[in-house]
Amino acid sequence: MSKYIIEGGRPLFGNVDVQGAKNAVLPIFAACVLTESDVVIRRVPDLADVVSMENILRNLGVTVKKEGDVRILSAKNMNSDNIPNDLAKELRSSVFLLGSVIGRMKRARVAYPGGCDIGLRPIDIHIKGLRDLGVIIEERAGYLFCDGTKMRGGEVILDYPSVGATENVMLAAVLAKGDTIVRNAAREPEIIDLQNFLLSIGAQIKGAGTSEIHIRGVSKLGGTEFTVMPDRICLGTWLLAVASCGGEVVLSGGRKAEIYSLLCKIDKSSCHIQEENGMIIIKASGMPVCSERISTRPYPGFPTDLQAQYCAYASAARGTCVVTENIFENRFRHVPELIKMGVDITVRDRVAVIKGTGYLNGAEVTARDLRGGAALVIAGLAARGRTVIDDIRHIDRGYEAMEKTLSNIGAKIVRV
Ligand code: UD1
Repeated sequence: MSKYIIEGGRPLFGNVDVQGAKNAVLPIFAACVLTESDVVIRRVPDLADVVSMENILRNLGVTVKKEGDVRILSAKNMNSDNIPNDLAKELRSSVFLLGSVIGRMKRARVAYPGGCDIGLRPIDIHIKGLRDLGVIIEERAGYLFCDGTKMRGGEVILDYPSVGATENVMLAAVLAKGDTIVRNAAREPEIIDLQNFLLSIGAQIKGAGTSEIHIRGVSKLGGTEFTVMPDRICLGTWLLAVASCGGEVVLSGGRKAEIYSLLCKIDKSSCHIQEENGMIIIKASGMPVCSERISTRPYPGFPTDLQAQYCAYASAARGTCVVTENIFENRFRHVPELIKMGVDITVRDRVAVIKGTGYLNGAEVTARDLRGGAALVIAGLAARGRTVIDDIRHIDRGYEAMEKTLSNIGAKIVRV
């Protein structure tokens, strides 16, 4: 198992290109099965989750060609509607494929996704949404058997604005006869990116980014060339790293408007962030003072995917922060690791109270999940001395060669 070794306590200086968004590219890849025409996708991040998705697509009969950060996908000869257990368990997001495989093949068989490292992650909202479009779904022997021969547009009212369920229903509805309205839809920017992709292949869809999405089914979709949006969670991670360590970094490709909920929680006395000619520039003294209350919420609220990294920032800062996790039930697994680095944190139910003194010490810690792993990297960069982070495969699911990005801006970090 690979590890990161970090010699902390150094400020960060230089430039970072923000990678394409993992949470946008995965549903867009799922959408590619809706068309028989070739689709070219640009700015695809080189991530373990993307490789898992490509393997699932190949297993369905889709050809995937890789040229740098470009993928050329062709589902012309797609010949399977089955996503077996060994592939589905690699990637929880394979559940998005339900909607698009049903759209294309009129049926789908998907291994029921299990729980994952941050919580149970049920799929009841996905299933109810697809049933509202007339899909017959049965669960047998750990598989969901879906019959979409009678699928048609309809009204889907989501119990909760689930990102994945919103995307799944969009993917199913674009080829379903008639009109669909998704109410209480998730409003995340990645849903707008999926809508933009679907529009570019000829779908009739509007409203993404609001809580009501309207889709008029079409009978056939075409090809496109499409560039994936920048990853707002990576952008937030880099900003928190610089805010914790100090330095001056220019980030290109990110969009400040997508992370306002984070920006308003970063200490302004120690850090200045501005947007200029499409670049985001952060200048930080590395001595943050932080006494904030954070509560994770669906977009535009504070993202659960930045909660762990924020805990690391609050640990490196002086002051007391109260962090509430409302989205996932098991998302404080970075806390015991941060405690090993000398910070006082108590967790009760979904609330963590972090009492930062402005000092962290290097320690031997373990990444337990993707964003928790990123949090330990931030803490390691800000800490005095050496930090060893074990089990960094989690980090590779969402950050493209994180050690290269950080070494380029002066961090001492190696993968062993
Ligand atoms: C997506 C993101 C993930 C992010 C999350 C919340 C991708 C690939 N992943 O995950 O990085 O952390 O949004 O912003 O885009 N729920 C149910 N039943 C369902 C579906 C969801 O109870 O059928 C619950 C989940 O357990 C969770 C909450 O709803 O507690 C939010 O889940 P959801 O918005 O669906 O997240 P994902 O799409 O899985």
